[in-house]
Amino acid sequence: MLQDKRILLILTGGIAAYKGLDLIRRLRERGAAVTPVLTRAAEQFVTPLSVSALAGEKVYRDLFDLTDEAEMGHIQLSRSADLILVAPATADIMAKMAQGRADDLASTLLLATDTAVMVAPAMNVRMWDHPATQRNLAQIKGDGVTVIGPNKGDMACGEHGPGRMSEPMEIVAAVEAHFGPRPLAGKRVLVTSGPTHEPIDPVRYIANRSSGAQGTALGQALADLGAEVVFVTGPADVAPPSGVAVVSVETAHQMREAVSAALPVDAAVFAAAVADWRVEDASVHKLKKVAGNLPALQFAENPDILAEVAQMADGRPGLVVGFAAETDDVVAHATAKRARKGCDWIVANDVSPETGIMGGSENAVILISETSAETWPRMSKTDVAAQLAQRIADALS
Ligand code: CTP
Repeated sequence: MLQDKRILLILTGGIAAYKGLDLIRRLRERGAAVTPVLTRAAEQFVTPLSVSALAGEKVYRDLFDLTDEAEMGHIQLSRSADLILVAPATADIMAKMAQGRADDLASTLLLATDTAVMVAPAMNVRMWDHPATQRNLAQIKGDGVTVIGPNKGDMACGEHGPGRMSEPMEIVAAVEAHFGPRPLAGKRVLVTSGPTHEPIDPVRYIANRSSGAQGTALGQALADLGAEVVFVTGPADVAPPSGVAVVSVETAHQMREAVSAALPVDAAVFAAAVADWRVEDASVHKLKKVAGNLPALQFAENPDILAEVAQMADGRPGLVVGFAAETDDVVAHATAKRARKGCDWIVANDVSPETGIMGGSENAVILISETSAETWPRMSKTDVAAQLAQRIADALS
């Protein structure tokens, strides 16, 4: 619930502004007071009248509106809020935030505040992917802004990809998490995620189908519960969580180094799909095709990062959690794997192609500990992450 919370909601100019109307309703249903701010461009998509009717409050629009200055002042306006939420956030407002510009009411409020800021980006996929936007994104994240979404999907402009604003209820969930209980405050948690890429030569590599979705959702859920998360990720398909320290790696060896640099931690969760083998003596030059002459690749075993950490004599994390991706005899294999690796829990799942789990948005897991095997119903990877994060919080408390 968001009782007694005042949210300064800045709507900027994008087609997703219409979802902003629903967002106002949803926030108010949960008890929040919403002070709306519209940019000039946003007024092209939603009217001040509809926004103020839904918010039940005056809409602020202009930096130089003297009545507003007399009533409140832009500094006061931003400081009186418990949270500033920008939804939808255009590429333009993100650029202004990254640069610290203050040339209209919205950007001035964002610069004048010391309150927490969350943004829900919405833009065309090419604008989102543009290096300038990605630079601005990294900058504002580094400045402490929480970024919600965006989602992948069909866009109003007819294109497909990342850039769709998160749904109002996803934004509400992020806001509630922000104000919610933080049982992992003061705890440091390591998460590995994504696949690893093992080079054959400078242009070719061996990989696997992990998208990094489950590990990313878990990193986010742990951060939402207040943990300081070190997120070590291989080359994943999905953007890393916000509010975590991201360490990007490619190979299993780099992941192992990043993991040992992150220790000590209170808990470590190994969601990465680490390649079991690498090519021994990967070529430093591109292998040339020679007719009738097939390259013979010699493999070497990669270090088992989970097993190494789980079996540390000194400084072992209080809780070590592994994942087991299996295609048959899931419980038997995963139970044996937990014992073999020496971790406390194994989150087992069936990744047979017909389950649609690897690369999909849902997961069906069995949580295996030394004494039990709990089958969880099939649910979204976000829900699996939230429940697992809560269990980790319970175990560390
Ligand atoms: N893992 C790891 N380092 C490796 C291999 C796996 O840290 N080199 C971790 C994974 O992150 C996961 C767990 O070990 O948490 C199990 O991974 P999985 O690939 O299922 O186990 P393997 O030991 O590789 O067993 P197999 O491939 O034979 O099923």
